[in-house]
Amino acid sequence: MPRLGTETALLRHVFRSQCVFLILCMVWCSPPDDPIKCSAQTSNCTITNSYGAFPDRSVCQAAETVYPTSEKELVAVVAKATMSKRKMKVATRYSHSIPKLVCPDGEEGLLITTKYLNHTLEVDAAKMTMKVESGVTLRELINQAAKAGLALPYAPYWWGLTVGGLLGTGAHGSSLWGKGSSVHDHVIGLRIVTPAGPEDGYAKVRVLNNSHPDMDAAKVSLGVLGVISQITFQLQPIFKRSITNLVKNDSDLADEAVRFGNQHEFADMTWYPSQGKVIYRIDDRVSTNLSGNGLNDFIGFRSTLSLSLALVRSSEEIQESTKNADGKCISSKITTSTLMGGGFGLTNDGVSFKGYPVIGYHNRLQASGSCLDSPRDSHITACPWDPKVKSQFFHQTTVSIGLSNVKNFIQDVQELIALEPKAMCGLELYDGILMRYVKASSAYLGKQEDAIDFDMTYYRSKNPLTPRLFEDIYEEVEQMALFKYGGLPHWGKNRNVAFDGAIKKYHNSREFLRVKEAYDPLGLFSSQWTDQVLGLQTGVTIIKEGCALEGLCICSQDIHCAPDKGYFCRPGRVYKDARVCTRLTSHNNMPLQL
Ligand SMILES: *[C@@H]1O[C@H](CO)[C@@H](O)[C@H](O)[C@H]1NC(C)=O
Ligand SMILES: *[C@@H]1O[C@H](CO)[C@@H](O)[C@H](O)[C@H]1NC(C)=O
Ligand SMILES: *[C@@H]1O[C@H](CO)[C@@H](O)[C@H](O)[C@H]1NC(C)=O
Ligand SMILES: *[C@@H]1O[C@H](CO)[C@@H](O)[C@H](O)[C@H]1NC(C)=O
Ligand SMILES: *[C@@H]1O[C@H](CO)[C@@H](O)[C@H](O)[C@H]1NC(C)=O
Repeated sequence: MPRLGTETALLRHVFRSQCVFLILCMVWCSPPDDPIKCSAQTSNCTITNSYGAFPDRSVCQAAETVYPTSEKELVAVVAKATMSKRKMKVATRYSHSIPKLVCPDGEEGLLITTKYLNHTLEVDAAKMTMKVESGVTLRELINQAAKAGLALPYAPYWWGLTVGGLLGTGAHGSSLWGKGSSVHDHVIGLRIVTPAGPEDGYAKVRVLNNSHPDMDAAKVSLGVLGVISQITFQLQPIFKRSITNLVKNDSDLADEAVRFGNQHEFADMTWYPSQGKVIYRIDDRVSTNLSGNGLNDFIGFRSTLSLSLALVRSSEEIQESTKNADGKCISSKITTSTLMGGGFGLTNDGVSFKGYPVIGYHNRLQASGSCLDSPRDSHITACPWDPKVKSQFFHQTTVSIGLSNVKNFIQDVQELIALEPKAMCGLELYDGILMRYVKASSAYLGKQEDAIDFDMTYYRSKNPLTPRLFEDIYEEVEQMALFKYGGLPHWGKNRNVAFDGAIKKYHNSREFLRVKEAYDPLGLFSSQWTDQVLGLQTGVTIIKEGCALEGLCICSQDIHCAPDKGYFCRPGRVYKDARVCTRLTSHNNMPLQL
């Protein structure tokens, strides 16, 4: 899930083009491209993600794409490919995962897209359950549930994800209450199509519920078990929420962070370390008789004029190339205050933001993504990260840190910021560090303990060999989160380094592999990337010139950074075991001691 992009708010504010913009949008909003492009109808295809680039910038190929419209067709597709021992991967409508989960190995693979597996099959208002096909988007799930008076209590904030995709990557919202914020922990039934032997016609539908021992593997599977065809959710009666964003300084964040999550059901925090601010989202269920018809249309997920996107990106590129840290800090303050003033896109009545609290029905507040609305194809407006126009291009480092380590991690980051106060202004241009609560799960590849997920989005150069401003600080925070504090990477985000040794942090990874072996013994749904992530092959990190700049490796030699541009491999400043690409100046020109 993207969660970005809000510098456009700045320009929006400057131009005050909201009205014109809305009208334009009704006519000319451009939908995201299909991530799959085939040169001959459905064959000779390439696939990318919605950002147009994988961490290693490779282009993934597949010989063919199929578009099943029902489970029956899906079974036939999997059977045919299994019979010929063909590699397969499941693709989704928009392809939001950053890592290469969607790529089949080689060039002969088959892509099975769930684009047309998007039907709501059954809504049982009495039992409060809902059965959908795996290509249904979160938006559709929320809307269909609401029609029956039901709600999925916790979910990611971006509604362009499909339910199959968000389960596969363990996506979540923010809560420590009840079963917690992971969507997969609200699943009560799954149907998954896997390869099979000739006696079963080469494919079979496995029907799982929560008493089935394989459910904990299938709920978060990285797509390597087969194709999930149907999912049944346990929902709740629809309810109202009351949201207040409270801005405070961050001096006691380390102490407050854990406590806050226990105080409010839908709590989250947005941290702006260089500004020394945190926004605490005080967010709870309230009685439905409280008045308010609030709506969330998050500014960073709205259709945005391509012209603004290009201007914002250009100014970011110029600030980077001129190492203008002050410029970034000025921009980030304007961006943040503009967003705050606009309630981040919240309105009290669906029209205007008059102040907090914003009270409204959960289904209108829990997620948004209006930039997906797309009456016609043009390039005048787009989602802020749409690669077909000049727009945002970033890395996302998203790591869950166990609650017992959160305090120390936050203090370490604050110590780093005390040394380099302007370092995180660049990240604040992407609306700071989003901190979401997530609970331990029984899913084998789910969270191992209650945690806070720290979600950081920051500048990525179009040139893989160009370091970013405060490169070393970002790398040090990333390595601290992952290695000093043993954080778990979000499966659908992150750069390669985050997955280095990650599987060892899962107590039941062997159980997961046992199920994988049983469901897909030939590994037809696996790829080199998934094997590497699951620890079955080495090579999750890639060693080459400049590799540390893109998070493909942790530097161990200067050449992994950009010595010709003054960036050398050095220890971290707070976390001494970190190895980061540091720009050498007269202050820190010490030799490397590895
Ligand atoms: C596949 O597409 C590429 C470029 O899009 C082209 O060079 C190649 O010849 C095509 N191959 C086949 C078998 O059509
Ligand atoms: C399913 O997706 C297709 C393609 O995006 C769309 O045309 C169709 O209306 C969708 N169907 C449902 C039931 O949402
Ligand atoms: C779970 O599935 C099994 C069959 O696999 C069935 O016997 C059992 O009744 C199901 N349990 C629930 C709660 O649906
Ligand atoms: C932060 O706020 C607290 C009160 O909430 C105050 O005591 C403290 O001095 C403030 N710190 C800074 C650096 O402004
Ligand atoms: C709202 O409902 C609560 C019970 O849920 C009740 O105590 C309260 O009096 C009601 N308020 C109004 C204004 O009706």
